Amino acid sequence: MNDPNGPVRIDGRYHLFFQYNPSAATWGDIGWGHTTSDNLLGWTEHPIAIPRTDSTMIFSGGVVIDSLGTAGLCSGPRCLVAIYTAAHAGTRVQNQSLAYSDDGGVRWTQHAGNPVLDIGSREFRDPFVFWHAPSAAWIMTIAMATDHAIRVYRSPNLRQWELASEFRGMGATGGVWECPVLVALPDHATGARRWMLKIDLNPGHVAGGSGAQYFVGDFDGRSFVPMDTTTQWVDFGPDFYCAQPWQPANEDGTVTWIAWMSNWTYAADIPTGPWRGLMSLPRTVSLRERDGRAMLVQQPIPVRSSDNAPVQQFSARNQILADPTVLDIQPGRAFEVEWRIDAGGATEVGLLLRHSAQQHVLISYDPVRSVVAIDRRPGGSSVHPQFEARYEAPIPRDRIATLRLVVDASSIELFAGNGATVLTALIFPDPGSVGLAIFSKGGAVRSVDLSVWPLRSPTAP
Ligand code: FRU
Repeated sequence: MNDPNGPVRIDGRYHLFFQYNPSAATWGDIGWGHTTSDNLLGWTEHPIAIPRTDSTMIFSGGVVIDSLGTAGLCSGPRCLVAIYTAAHAGTRVQNQSLAYSDDGGVRWTQHAGNPVLDIGSREFRDPFVFWHAPSAAWIMTIAMATDHAIRVYRSPNLRQWELASEFRGMGATGGVWECPVLVALPDHATGARRWMLKIDLNPGHVAGGSGAQYFVGDFDGRSFVPMDTTTQWVDFGPDFYCAQPWQPANEDGTVTWIAWMSNWTYAADIPTGPWRGLMSLPRTVSLRERDGRAMLVQQPIPVRSSDNAPVQQFSARNQILADPTVLDIQPGRAFEVEWRIDAGGATEVGLLLRHSAQQHVLISYDPVRSVVAIDRRPGGSSVHPQFEARYEAPIPRDRIATLRLVVDASSIELFAGNGATVLTALIFPDPGSVGLAIFSKGGAVRSVDLSVWPLRSPTAP
């Protein structure tokens, strides 16, 4: 699988559709897979929701709840309309089409009047649609992939679309633009809402290959105007692509989004089987002001439950930790870490995850430059020449750095500074490398406090 599509919540249940190839563990024959969850952690997979046809693949898009029946396809609280890119074999034209479900996402029917938006382009994809109450219209953001432009369209009925504006001439343009999302987010402190436009690009991301940038600004129902035109990165790691938020938003105005956890540079090479392709943890997203700029804040949904093994801890004060100091902690292959560091005289403090005599993945904190990094070069896998790399990100300057990590069998999600900085990276260590070690360099570290919770597999409710 690749991109998440149309995350939607109905009757308290979370639905997720996704780019899915049922015939091979590489990209091709793409349609929409379907899975549901009551808690965003344990998932039940369902039959393919929207399969490809002989002439069309079903590319990325969104899902809306059309309870008022504006499209005339169905109505009521279980009426879902999917808006996706139909990628036509032969002509290679990409146009926008609808499918609908009147039973809350189980059975889907193609709209007889497809396509609903066709400009004859081969690079016009990934519609994201939501209801904009202040201007009483459906809004679509969609990528003109090779033009590095995001178009905004408006519609009263999901079938007729009027071009309202174009966002272009800004941001990182090292590769094609894909999977735009426009969403209102609350400021963490004040609750005031601002609009955020997220645009994925491939390649050209700060970590190499595919990844996402974002802008914060205003949206009046027609155009998005950024307050700051410099690119900001959603995630400084290599493996977070084409995120989409669940609709409707959470009650406190935040949204929860999820992304494909891979990178087009090596997606076809990752050493898993029979499956290939995975999703990130769902993350709660809001904004926070830092240095006069509104910045994205992302926190993983809670992953610990009462069935998880009890916490294991390690603390040290005023000492240099030998490189490496192997800890008497058995985290297993999936675990959560909370790590607080008051560096004191140390110039680097590091955590070796999935450690054994042969390999580890290194998480390091540099208090002088105020950066954190994931280095997967010592990780023992040879996936692809561009996979063996180190990824670095700035974190807010603070006397005590607080890092939170969720590690699963083949992934690390690192959240620093209360979610101000995120790094996501796949890892493929040997299954037997399950140790944990720590070190400090340059001088005595004032304090290190580490809490580790081994995690069990969630069961689908
Ligand atoms: C992004 C993407 C989208 C497209 C889909 C096809 O990963 O290239 O632009 O809709 O994948 O699977």
